[in-house]
Amino acid sequence: MKLSKRIILRGIMVYCTLASLLIVGCKVEEIIAPELLTISESFKNPIGFYNNTPTFSWRLPISQHIKSQSAYQIVVASSKDLLPNNADLWDSGKQLSAQSTFVKYEGKPLKSRQKVFWQVRFWNQEDKNSGWSDVNTFELGLLNNSDWKANWIGLDTAKDSIKGVRAFLMHRPQYLRKRFELFKDVASARLYITAKGVFDVHLNGKDVSDDVMTPGWTPYNHRIETLTYNITEFLKAGKNAIGVELASGWHSGRISRGRALYENFASPKILCQLEIVMKNGSKQTIISDKSWKGTTNGPLRLAGIYDGEVYDANFEMPNWNTVTFDDSNWKMVEVEAVSKDVKLAPKRHQTVKNQMVLKDVEIVSVKENTSVFNLKQNIVGVPKVSVPMKKGDTLKIRFSEMLLKDNTFYTKNYRSAKSTDYYVASKDGVIEYVPKFTFHGFQFLELSGYDKNAKPEAFWVQGIAQHSNFEKIGTFTSSHHKLNQLQSNITWGLRDNFFDVPTDCPQRDERLGWTGDAQVIAPTALFNYDTHAFWAAWLQSMRETQSEHNNGLIPFIIPDVLQNNNASSGWGDASVIIPWDVYNITGDISVLQENYEMSKKWVGYYQSKAKNYIPSMYSFADWLQPYPAKTGKTGNRGDTPKELINTAYFAHSAHLLSKIASILGKTEDEKKYKDLYNAVSNAFENTFFDAGKFIGKKQTQTAYLLAIHFNLLKQETKEKAKKYLLEEIKNADYHLGTGFLGTPILPKVLDDMGEIDLMYKILFKETYPSWFYSINQGATTMWERWNSYSKNDGFNPQSMNSLNHYAYGAVGQWMYERLAGLASLEPGYKKIRIAPVPNTEFLTSASASVKTPYGVSSSSWKIENDTFTLDVVIPPNTSAEVHIPYGNKERLFVNGSMFAKNSNLKLMSSDTSLIKILAEPGTYNFQTKL
Ligand code: BGC
Repeated sequence: MKLSKRIILRGIMVYCTLASLLIVGCKVEEIIAPELLTISESFKNPIGFYNNTPTFSWRLPISQHIKSQSAYQIVVASSKDLLPNNADLWDSGKQLSAQSTFVKYEGKPLKSRQKVFWQVRFWNQEDKNSGWSDVNTFELGLLNNSDWKANWIGLDTAKDSIKGVRAFLMHRPQYLRKRFELFKDVASARLYITAKGVFDVHLNGKDVSDDVMTPGWTPYNHRIETLTYNITEFLKAGKNAIGVELASGWHSGRISRGRALYENFASPKILCQLEIVMKNGSKQTIISDKSWKGTTNGPLRLAGIYDGEVYDANFEMPNWNTVTFDDSNWKMVEVEAVSKDVKLAPKRHQTVKNQMVLKDVEIVSVKENTSVFNLKQNIVGVPKVSVPMKKGDTLKIRFSEMLLKDNTFYTKNYRSAKSTDYYVASKDGVIEYVPKFTFHGFQFLELSGYDKNAKPEAFWVQGIAQHSNFEKIGTFTSSHHKLNQLQSNITWGLRDNFFDVPTDCPQRDERLGWTGDAQVIAPTALFNYDTHAFWAAWLQSMRETQSEHNNGLIPFIIPDVLQNNNASSGWGDASVIIPWDVYNITGDISVLQENYEMSKKWVGYYQSKAKNYIPSMYSFADWLQPYPAKTGKTGNRGDTPKELINTAYFAHSAHLLSKIASILGKTEDEKKYKDLYNAVSNAFENTFFDAGKFIGKKQTQTAYLLAIHFNLLKQETKEKAKKYLLEEIKNADYHLGTGFLGTPILPKVLDDMGEIDLMYKILFKETYPSWFYSINQGATTMWERWNSYSKNDGFNPQSMNSLNHYAYGAVGQWMYERLAGLASLEPGYKKIRIAPVPNTEFLTSASASVKTPYGVSSSSWKIENDTFTLDVVIPPNTSAEVHIPYGNKERLFVNGSMFAKNSNLKLMSSDTSLIKILAEPGTYNFQTKL
């Protein structure tokens, strides 16, 4: 009955839609409602949400009737039945505004656990209203420490800890459990849970979620993130059991150089609270408390992030997480109250998850009882092995990113990280094993200790790639296979290193949130993946860490496990630059608001270090610049003097801060920081430049790039500096000569100088140092150094030689913006720039698409038979500047007709080399003869 009614209704809607195309006046707009509703940083109907004053975003549907929004209305209610007409929490009323992203909630205060329903509608450019959107929801998590009735619980594993790598003490993983009884049928249930350590939770024998290494990594001395799970389906009236596996993770494990331990080697603990509403309306709450029991005698014997996992199947405890299990010989847990000092807050970005399973594996070598497998892609995650074994034998699993010439493992670059997993078999037969509380950076895997009589098969091994769970929103492709490989290396490098926090590398004894690396890659990341929440979350950790230092210092890494009370220019500037980039690409002003004080304090740090506007402080400088004058480790800082870099970043951060102040309406600050920027730029030019020439001992590309890109020179001298930069590039035989700081801005500077062809030449270089060089040597990810490895010379002799380091992938932004031609011109793509710059010596086509906050936008060009074709999509409620790089508007065709006839397009300017057009939302095919 119901179904047929729906079909009839849909039929009427389709009829009305079709008819409306013919009959003017049919209320078509009432049918087409806004789509893809999200709150805050793109959350869709979340539970356990972190923010009780979220923002709302929606997309206008694609329709010829909908160009833009002239007004909107949002209604928010505590029950679905109240919508849309009786919204009890907030009714925005009809707001005359084009804003369709990040509209702030201004209704009644919302509390922990509250579930909220919302809808939105809009009016189009002709003031015709849409229908109401579907009802969306969000449900808040536990927002206050006082919401927690539970206690931290766990065994004291510090007492019986064992010695690990470098005599470092390691906690044994724990198993914790509790049986409980529910007296009525369950209507709905939530599990609120977190750990000091990393956990995996089960109810009645079932894994509650597929999250990996939760709760992730925050500055645990300030804030620990909590997770919320809908566990309604896991529970039943009567007896139930909860079981939690717990290991050290980042909290109590070996991280960094051993100074990372919170609370002096405290044992890992969990905190959990099950809140259950019964069908009769009564409630029951189960908490972590002294009634739980625990053991360290389970199969997980050891687990560490750097060193790997030891699993002994002889210790397996069948059904340990179910009601029937006998836990009488398990220990009582220790209990610790929730303190006020550490904030418990719902996780504000997505957890790490298994993202992809690589099954196309090749056997490289088999020797006696040892075989090597190749995944053909450097990944981060864990293996899944299915291997025949003999009872009592130990399978050893080693990892490596590349092989040495004799096919043995190159592991020098893991440094002290053992990165080895072990599985001890309890019976004969095929075992299946996936490590749980560790992760590895690897392309190759070595197995030894399996059944000697078995012939190794490629299917024994699969690779599970893991990363924070964000959506892929961008694509880039071109006619050049090496450029496409570069795009692949960039995006693998990004995902591999977005493991709850942005890490420098995923394999050695580091894997830390290095601020400089993150600063340079953020824009490229934001093109390719929806990393808005990922960055916003990490910036919160940065703010919390800065608060420990009253002089505004931003440590080298966040969370700060180095604790060396030092900061570096170009690294600490992440506190200003990343909020700025996130704002420009997403349009979300709250990222500027949230981080404003932090950015100010960081500029204050420079001020505290500066004499006559020249800061005297530490810097990693233009890290890993090729051909440094000094050799070995001291050469790592490149040849551009740190004083120059300090001053350049001081000026740049002050400049960005004045722009941020202006956006936030803080006029006094805007002027103050503009003046500061001017004063620092003056000092910069007077100290380091003479008539546009860098006066240092050794000329470097980066000295000029910083001076030009950060606008630190007077106009006349800047023009001269550009000439010197070109000379420097020529001296390098058109290779780049830049490290972490110079490389990301090289394409931008050359582009602004009109030297696009030169940038093409550098980008398409095949020889060292260049992007394609590593590809020619077999790279499947970005490498830490321009010469991490070569087929002729082998590996770089330094052990700091990661084959998965994203910094040099920062060129990805320019590939989107200029090679394919898709850029955000006004924050969040409210205005889009389509401006590809073809160069047929290297490319005959390139395309990019991005799911912008307004919908998909794309730019795709090709040159064929002397014809330039550009396909463009501009989403509703935006506009675009389209730059056609070949002049003559008389010969330009759009969607098959002469350009002049298209009423959605307006000519802005035209000369023989460029036609600039203002375009309304729509789909366009431009064509012109060359
Ligand atoms: C990291 C870098 C980081 C650097 C600071 C290294 O050990 O891997 O990527 O930015 O230290 O210079």
